[in-house]
Amino acid sequence: MKSRKKIYEGKAKILYEGPEPGTLIQYFKDDATAFNNKKHDVLEGKGVINNRISEFIMTHLHTIGIQTHFIKRLNMREQLIKSAEIVPIEVVCRNVAAGSIAQRLGLPEGQALPRSIVEFYYKNDELGDPMISEEHITAFSWASAPELDEMMAMTLRINDFLTGLFAGAGIRLVDFKLEYGRIWDNEYSRLILADEISPDSCRLWDVENNEKLDKDRFRRDLGGVTEAYSEVARRLGIMKDMPKLSAIEGGLK
Ligand code: TMP
Ligand code: ASP
Repeated sequence: MKSRKKIYEGKAKILYEGPEPGTLIQYFKDDATAFNNKKHDVLEGKGVINNRISEFIMTHLHTIGIQTHFIKRLNMREQLIKSAEIVPIEVVCRNVAAGSIAQRLGLPEGQALPRSIVEFYYKNDELGDPMISEEHITAFSWASAPELDEMMAMTLRINDFLTGLFAGAGIRLVDFKLEYGRIWDNEYSRLILADEISPDSCRLWDVENNEKLDKDRFRRDLGGVTEAYSEVARRLGIMKDMPKLSAIEGGLK
């Protein structure tokens, strides 16, 4: 691989310095982790699929006026993005009970929620990303009150749009996690959607049989993880110019 400056390495992605100021290169790894890194595996081809799915979703979000960090995909595993100051909050939006809300509130998995629910988690691996309230966010200045309102409104808009997008592909959008970043223009900043949207960060169920097509296959040892991710890509119509999974090997950049 070319030698270039690594800015940050996370569990599933690496950020390198970009070709111009204000840009970064986001590299999608094949690593899968769960339960705050306690479970780890390398799933060949996952990064390639997530790069494409995230590109597809961010590009569609641009068409409805949602600003994101995505500029363009560079190759199989990399995309050029705007460098943003990441807000240290994970914004989760839920339509159907699953995962931690099902556990915390004793709801049966699969029960539709009375309305879409937005939750916030403090992005801190050492603390295991604890759930927080809007009070914590403003009191500790992780985001301002107007930023919080904007994240909430953008998240609900993204939810409506993605629910329809996935429904058209026979997929129920159960829940998903978003991250936002700030772009500074002198003393003014604006929020843009950052990170990725992929089966790593969403729960996606087949509308007919509720089959899981997301990272829960890895978390719960259900097998067929990359096959499920490629099925999502196929249904969204983005596998056409993608090499067969069997042809994707770790060495591919
Ligand atoms: P949860 O039910 O475990 O709280 O997860 C809610 C959603 O957020 C689910 O779609 C998976 C996603 N998520 C992440 O992307 N990263 C995380 O670290 C966690 C815990 C969840
Ligand atoms: N991404 C998180 C981790 O690595 C948790 C998850 O997605 O379940 O621990």
